[in-house]
Amino acid sequence: MTDPIYKTDALIAENIDAYLETHQHKTMLRFITCGSVDDGKSTLIGRLLYDSKMIFEDQLAALEADSKRVGTQGQEIDFALLVDGLAAEREQGITIDVAYRFFATEKRKFIVADTPGHEQYTRNMVTGASTADLAVILIDARKGVLTQTRRHSYLVNLLGIRHIVLAVNKMDLVGYDQATYDQIVADYRAFATSIGIKDFTAIPISGFKGDNITAPSEKTPWYSGPSLLPYLEAVEVNITADQEQPFRMSVQWVNRPNLDFRGFSGMIASGSVKPGDAVRVLPSGKTSTIARIVAYGGDKDEAVAGESVTLTLADEIDCSRGQVIVASKAPLEVADQFEASVVWMDENEMVAGRAYWLKIGAQMVSAKVAQPKYEVDVNTQEHLAAKTLDLNSIGVATITTDREIPFAPYAESRDLGGFILIDKITNHTVAAGIIHFSLRRASNIHWQATDIGRDHHAAMKHQKPAVVWLTGLSGSGKSTIGNALEKKLARMNRHTFLLDGDNVRHGLNKDLGFTEADRVENVRRVGEVARLMTDAGLIVVTAFISPFRSERDMVRGMMEPGEFIEVFVDTPLSVAEERDVKGLYAKARSGQLKNFTGIDSPYEAPDNAEIRIDTTAMTADEAADKIIERLIP
Ligand code: ADX
Repeated sequence: MTDPIYKTDALIAENIDAYLETHQHKTMLRFITCGSVDDGKSTLIGRLLYDSKMIFEDQLAALEADSKRVGTQGQEIDFALLVDGLAAEREQGITIDVAYRFFATEKRKFIVADTPGHEQYTRNMVTGASTADLAVILIDARKGVLTQTRRHSYLVNLLGIRHIVLAVNKMDLVGYDQATYDQIVADYRAFATSIGIKDFTAIPISGFKGDNITAPSEKTPWYSGPSLLPYLEAVEVNITADQEQPFRMSVQWVNRPNLDFRGFSGMIASGSVKPGDAVRVLPSGKTSTIARIVAYGGDKDEAVAGESVTLTLADEIDCSRGQVIVASKAPLEVADQFEASVVWMDENEMVAGRAYWLKIGAQMVSAKVAQPKYEVDVNTQEHLAAKTLDLNSIGVATITTDREIPFAPYAESRDLGGFILIDKITNHTVAAGIIHFSLRRASNIHWQATDIGRDHHAAMKHQKPAVVWLTGLSGSGKSTIGNALEKKLARMNRHTFLLDGDNVRHGLNKDLGFTEADRVENVRRVGEVARLMTDAGLIVVTAFISPFRSERDMVRGMMEPGEFIEVFVDTPLSVAEERDVKGLYAKARSGQLKNFTGIDSPYEAPDNAEIRIDTTAMTADEAADKIIERLIP
């Protein structure tokens, strides 16, 4: 995204390279440990690091061989390892507490994501799990399957981790009792089946004593399965499966050092590619063939999933950052509406209907999340009715993007089905999500082209349509100015229409109140109506508090360029309150009226309004003249 990320990544890459070079020939297993401190998670991780004798002293020492959670250093490393989408987080003000530790044995390299066990930190677990191939779910043998075990398992399964180890820990504290172990495994199996987990491997261990960690323990003669570390060394994860899928690569950037070379760089998400392969660029659908595969150290004859390469194409076709190059015979689906699970990660709750940036693969589009169909109680897996999602909650909702994007369901591809949502104003990563399937709205509902178009309507009225959007506090003078403006325009034979907050709320929007979500919907509907009225050739004047920048910008985006004129009716709160034409400020101050703008609900003043009106310095008539100067030059 921004330069700093690339810079830091390069730095991190150097450090990791030095380490990985020693272990280059080995495969890599990424796993996550789930459990709380009480379950002996830190002890177990410490034990794995210790037993693998691969604690390192050099640059990466800061990653910590001890069992304490690492600070910033660890966080930098973690971001280098995250999927591209989540990598944006570090720069976007979200604190995710995940420590990544590296270790290696004779047979394999490991990266273990260690997430805090506290109940409320769903987002940490989601981040850690988003790149893991396997999850070790820890259970304290004395306690058995807990709410938290169920919660972790649900998230692990949701995030597509197909390999689960049920580590029944602290066996020493239950006298290595087989019956206790068997009961826990049976309990877990019943639960796992109920949420669709097909398989798991249970191992009785003691992280503290070292039983069944590196070698079978004499204390559990009744257990004949693998010990933990040998199992982790041997387990087959889906790296090969990724390679067997059709070829897909998101274009991270277009590499154009000079006029003779145009390459498309990215990491291959799935499948393999050879020069001569027929490919398709999505969403445009244009086809070509692969000319060269350029990589560090020269051209390649073939590249496979997980490799970062630069491809050149035989034809000069359009292909830009964020587009996806796929095998032409196996194109991805392209859609602009999806059903997705969304994990909310921000302190501010989700606002249904607000536009957020959605980053999926290397694409960034504007997207809106509808009111959730339901929220999932992660502890009981119950579906609950919900109007919004708040910090750490998970829900299922419809997401609509402002243009079509190529994607794959998350179950098929984490890279092309996982996304993050970014707040447009704060630039914070507010949610992570996974696409379940597309809703085929776009292909079933078509815009009906009419013969008498907007130009015709406008020409008949001898005017240029426009929207004069008056925004400001309650009692700032929006309606008064709107009224004066409409009278002047009528005298000039202009065709106008005034949409006023109080009036619209008696009809079209009488189902809406003054919560953040309702105000967003209020403004969205007014925006849509205003848009239709401009299509009819009218000059629309609107008078709504419209307190949020996001929605005013959204309406601006709905209009033709130059058609939207934002007018900030700038009246200080003290003045509006002093006037208190409707007596509402008094009510709000006394607590009789909730969510009142300026009192206990925010007003975000515009910073890019076309016109600012200081009502303490001019009359409504003068304000109207000022607007007309701009409107009809
Ligand atoms: S907006 O925030 O959704 O844009 P809108 O302009 O439609 O608000 O409506 C504002 C008008 O509703 C105010 O001028 C006032 O008369 C009335 N009102 C009633 N309750 C509230 C409230 N809690 N906050 C603001 N205005 C309120």
